[in-house]
Amino acid sequence: MEYSKVAHRDTVLLTVTDPEKDTAALDRAAAILKNGGLVALPTETVYGLGANALDPQAVKNIFLAKGRPQDNPLIIHIVDPQQAQLYAKDIPPVYYELCRRFSPGPLTVILPKREIIPMETSGGLETVAIRIPSHPVAREIIRRAGVPVAAPSANLSGSPSPTTAEHCVHDLWGRVDAIVDAGECSVGVESTVISLAANPPLLLRPGAVTPAQLREFLPDLVVHHAVTDKLQENERADSPGMKYKHYAPKAQITILDAGSEQFVRYVNAHAHEGLYALCFEEDVAGLKVPYISLGRDEKDQAKHLFAALRELDEKGAKEVYARCPSRQGVGLAVYNRLIRAAAFHECDLNEETQAPSDQNSEAGVPAAGTSFEKRKA
Ligand code: TXA
Ligand code: MG
Repeated sequence: MEYSKVAHRDTVLLTVTDPEKDTAALDRAAAILKNGGLVALPTETVYGLGANALDPQAVKNIFLAKGRPQDNPLIIHIVDPQQAQLYAKDIPPVYYELCRRFSPGPLTVILPKREIIPMETSGGLETVAIRIPSHPVAREIIRRAGVPVAAPSANLSGSPSPTTAEHCVHDLWGRVDAIVDAGECSVGVESTVISLAANPPLLLRPGAVTPAQLREFLPDLVVHHAVTDKLQENERADSPGMKYKHYAPKAQITILDAGSEQFVRYVNAHAHEGLYALCFEEDVAGLKVPYISLGRDEKDQAKHLFAALRELDEKGAKEVYARCPSRQGVGLAVYNRLIRAAAFHECDLNEETQAPSDQNSEAGVPAAGTSFEKRKA
């Protein structure tokens, strides 16, 4: 898709600090949506690029503004679980049980779609992805617009999802009608996506709602192998988003599976011009190369990952060694995004240091020429 061919739009920046008071900004954003325009708006996960989900032309403009492949379906955002039946059919009772536990919040559920949802929104599929966001600003804008809001993440296709309005300004200024600034997103990675149109139910994208939490309601939930592994060539993508390049900064990222000490030792031993560490707080004191810390626990890591990936580009990082997240809780979502940002470059230092050919094993440093492509399919 050619970004340069998108018609220029005069973008307004609308700031909402208090959704109860800043009603003029909310009404303006809602009116733009109702009239077929494009609005980047905050949700608790990441900023979304919203348009009226029932308006095929408005939805087409989302794809153009983002440079998104047209077969990659959009999530529709509503405010109340009861509205789901307007847009989806054959809704199983467990959908409402899930809503009672997790909605509003970072969970998206795929269901068979009704006619009213245009093919542009569903990317040509017979299903629709529905989410009920909890962010008060998103909720107020959707409620005031009075339409379901289709919203992918508000980034240019291929770059990290935006977690601040500044990220949206960077990617979409002049391409959308408004950007609503309500500060940093609290979760930081996109919603968990599950399909109830599949049998057994299928988790397609991990997020803050974890497989363990979901299995209380869906004991037979299957986690798609592409959550942690590369989709095979010619393999059908159950979720079209799986097959596209994602979140990739310019630098080559390698994920290092290691404890703090081993990670720090390895990174310091391989220091070179343009190398950055993407690390956790516990690694910071020992590092002798420039670094960005994602914080202390999985929640911190989720919140800061996408901003960190953007920052690495700004700093001109050429190569990045990233500490591998735990994969516990929301850590699985962090791992899922990071492994894509790293183009599946991952190295298990625990294994490498035990290799007999490893002459520097006392320093925990794999021998030169160690392959980082072990996970590459
Ligand atoms: O947290 C989020 O989910 C954010 C905020 C803005 O709500 N939105 C978001 O949208 O991340 P997007 O478009 O960037 O990611 C949606 C993912 C894509 O991978 C898409 O392929 C998948 O969900 N998806 C959407 N509808 C689908 C469907 N009917 N069947 C299978 N996958 C679907
Ligand atoms: Mg996205």
